[in-house]
Amino acid sequence: MRIIRAKDYQDMSRKAANIISAQIIMKPDCVLGLATGSTPIGIYRQLIEWYEKGDLDFADVTTVNLDEYKGLSPENEQSYAYFMHHRLFDHVNINPQRTHLPDGTNPDADGECARYEALLQSVGGIDLQLLGLGNNGHIGFNEPDTAFEKETHCINLLEQTIEANKRFFDSIDEVPKQAYTMGIRTIMMAKKILLVVNGEGKADILKEALYGPVTPHVPASILQMHPDVTVVADEAALSRCMK
Ligand code: GLP
Repeated sequence: MRIIRAKDYQDMSRKAANIISAQIIMKPDCVLGLATGSTPIGIYRQLIEWYEKGDLDFADVTTVNLDEYKGLSPENEQSYAYFMHHRLFDHVNINPQRTHLPDGTNPDADGECARYEALLQSVGGIDLQLLGLGNNGHIGFNEPDTAFEKETHCINLLEQTIEANKRFFDSIDEVPKQAYTMGIRTIMMAKKILLVVNGEGKADILKEALYGPVTPHVPASILQMHPDVTVVADEAALSRCMK
């Protein structure tokens, strides 16, 4: 595991965007696993800037997103589909047909999970998976549990996650209680993983994830078992990891 120390949020974003950019340049038809949340916003902004300068070409890139709220349509501003369009897809030359997320509008959870799992297989594996870190150690929406869920599944969001994500909604009642998420196996099958973390609020959980026991109670701890993980975190997030 490589740990890259960034000065602050902007530095983290630029360093992580450089890694994604290198992936696209090295393999223009790569499959990128993408993440939402506040952490990657600066990365997407940077990628757009480099695209506008002519340094990046998304024409042959395929993307698969980690997760989506169950019950939200792509038109809903809080949906992850809306986020991805607004923060990245609409600003670069990516082919919309090659951008994939779980379909939050599908009420048939089993059907939707099977469809997304098949889609993940059909794209032929993820070259680089971008991950944020939930306050409770979740990756995607793989919440702390007694076992790692391997496949795409429908998850009941924990109170703490609903609480953490209510800042994006008008009220806590509007935060969906369920989500579709890629499972741990798909994440672990990615050839490369890029975990981005910022802020002091994540310092304890980042330390647990990187140096604590590998346990489904801290889902991100499974990343210790992956052969090619790069962590880009700012000094505040790494403040408990000083050795
Ligand atoms: C959300 C997403 C995760 C994300 C995490 C952290 O619940 N499902 O993919 O990594 O929360 O979000 P943030 O970057 O806003 O702290």
